[in-house]
Amino acid sequence: MRLCTDGPLRGEVEAPGDKSCSHRAALLAALTDDEVTIFNFAPGEDCASTLDCLAALGVPVTRRGSEVTVQGRAGVLDEPDRVLDCGNSGTTMRLLAGLLSGQRMHVILSGDDSLNRRPMDRIVDPLRHMGADIRMREEAGAPLSICGGVTRGGEYRTPVASAQVKSAILLAGLYAESATTVREPGTSRDHTERMLEAWGVPVQRHNGRVRLGGKGLSRLRAPEDGVRIPGDISSVAFLVAAALLTPGSEVLIRNVGINPTRTGILAVLESMDARVEADNVRDWMGEPVADLLVRHSSLRPFQVEEDMVPTLIDEIPLLALLAAHARGTSTFRGVGELRFKETDRLAAVQEELGAVGVQCRVREDTLLIDGEEDFSAIPATPDARGDHRMAMTLALAGLPDGRVELRNDSAVDISYPQFFHHLRSLGARPSSRGEHLQMGLLGEGIEDSASPPMLRTALEVCGLRGSYRLFDVGSKDLGAAVRGLGALGVVRFNVTRPHKVAICRYLDRLAPSARDLEAVNTVVPDGGELVGHNTDVAGVARALRDAGFRMQDSRVLIVGAGGAARAALRAAVDGAAAGVHIANRSPRAAAELAGLWWAEDCATQVHCSGLTDVPGGRFDLIIQATPVGSLDASCPLPEHCHLGAGVTVLEMIYRPQVTSLVRRARTAGAKVVPGSEMLLHQGARAFELWTGEAAPVQKMREELGRVLRW
Ligand code: S3P
Repeated sequence: MRLCTDGPLRGEVEAPGDKSCSHRAALLAALTDDEVTIFNFAPGEDCASTLDCLAALGVPVTRRGSEVTVQGRAGVLDEPDRVLDCGNSGTTMRLLAGLLSGQRMHVILSGDDSLNRRPMDRIVDPLRHMGADIRMREEAGAPLSICGGVTRGGEYRTPVASAQVKSAILLAGLYAESATTVREPGTSRDHTERMLEAWGVPVQRHNGRVRLGGKGLSRLRAPEDGVRIPGDISSVAFLVAAALLTPGSEVLIRNVGINPTRTGILAVLESMDARVEADNVRDWMGEPVADLLVRHSSLRPFQVEEDMVPTLIDEIPLLALLAAHARGTSTFRGVGELRFKETDRLAAVQEELGAVGVQCRVREDTLLIDGEEDFSAIPATPDARGDHRMAMTLALAGLPDGRVELRNDSAVDISYPQFFHHLRSLGARPSSRGEHLQMGLLGEGIEDSASPPMLRTALEVCGLRGSYRLFDVGSKDLGAAVRGLGALGVVRFNVTRPHKVAICRYLDRLAPSARDLEAVNTVVPDGGELVGHNTDVAGVARALRDAGFRMQDSRVLIVGAGGAARAALRAAVDGAAAGVHIANRSPRAAAELAGLWWAEDCATQVHCSGLTDVPGGRFDLIIQATPVGSLDASCPLPEHCHLGAGVTVLEMIYRPQVTSLVRRARTAGAKVVPGSEMLLHQGARAFELWTGEAAPVQKMREELGRVLRW
């Protein structure tokens, strides 16, 4: 993946829910005896790990997009019959370890290789002091084996300022008979404290000490109207940086959590002269929230002192990149804790950002960056090392012209799966240049398709590496085929008859172009998900527009009622046609199409009938959308339909080019738009969705002409 910008970034983005707050809300909800709805729950795999673990502990969890409902178990969870998988999420493992230390059962927590290498003694030691029976691997890492047992609170001094350690102790402290106090060497994020207070459990805070009274669990009540999670400043920081670095940009990011224990980055940006304004500040259950307005800026170097590090701990790789764009030396002191993140981030910053040309030095726990105003990355293919924040930082390092090709970009899914999508919506161009793009067509009886030569030409003209193959699959094998293609890395494909509707249930999501239509002809990967799009509608509209046809206020006859007719109807409705008549051999299928809600609830009058009952009178546009129509089959259009001058005919069949309808239309003096034009434009749009490149439409048309020999 390469990220480019052609011009300024502009627009608005709704910040995705905060990861730290989402973990905490789900865990606390499980301990109440209420059904708790959490709105704006964080996307990404880390928080999904927390929900999966809760489900394995017998907590009913339902999720509809960013809305999560947790049915609390009044503090009593079920002993799971398997090892709980915390994935890549340190917060899941450490906070859950605290929470489970108060339960009476045996649980094993494990994670991926990166998580199992991270230090767990920092939570295990205090939890043992509170009475918990916990074992860890000899090297102080996970898997952890927990048998509960917390009975007492106590006072703990944590060796590092870590919100995960503090929160693990506080969650265990909820079960303790006596008070629990945590003292930290610095102030780490305080979402647990704020949330406990908002949920009825008093927490006293004074001079770096946090104190929770005994038996806190009995007081815990979820807010009545559910919980709204503020936007994640650690995720949107990457959008902020993209806007700061791209000349002319102006971007508004809504609903960003600006808890002062998280906003170290805003303070540093201010000292860099970055133009970032926080407006419309309000309170969401004890957490301050604002909208951030960001404008392109020239940046000055900065100093981060040790006491500030906990407030920007996750933003250091990104700030290191911004420092590269500020003339002079920027310094981060006391950042040794970075060695214990998802990867050794100090080494990753030095080596991977170093590989793209950022001048980094590490002196013990100090990181120094020598920047220049007109920093430009050297072409490189750095490795995110499976670390989501490194992945997003490195993706931005290649701006504006995509000099950096990021390997393993799927790491962004850990915290911010919509990262590339949001950047695209602001005008950036994630480009697949450098990747080997495996594309194809999934359908039945497709050996004659003209898509392979057309799309191979597009790849070649754009200088992209890739292939376009045919996958002939019957209906009963469709699900297996989609999974199989995914396993082979074929995640960009077109879909044709008879699977356009059935494919929907095998995809993760439908894009707006396919949602109402419930028909998909293009599948596009986005943040590890398969998203269904429909480019047929745009293909019809574009083919007609290029032929000079004006849809608005026109009268349209659509012959057929299958998938192609559905796209034609949608193009007519979207183009504000005055009326559409759907004629089909089976009048019932025509009525079904005309009865789709979006066809009924629109300004266009939609009627239908059998083929022989098409009303007399003139249509401005006739779309032939049945599979019949080849030279030897009879023309599906009834004889009485007028076909003179001033009528436009779109014949969706492109092989052969001259069908009986095309001959009849030409003889009668009607204007003919060949089906190959629709094929061309739907394919061009699919190509753009897959590659982020402008499709070479004329070259694709020439290739189609050669293949179809017109
Ligand atoms: C987090 C705390 C921080 C942070 C992590 C999330 C939390 O870790 O890096 O991304 O939600 O408590 P530490 O507590 O280990 O510093």
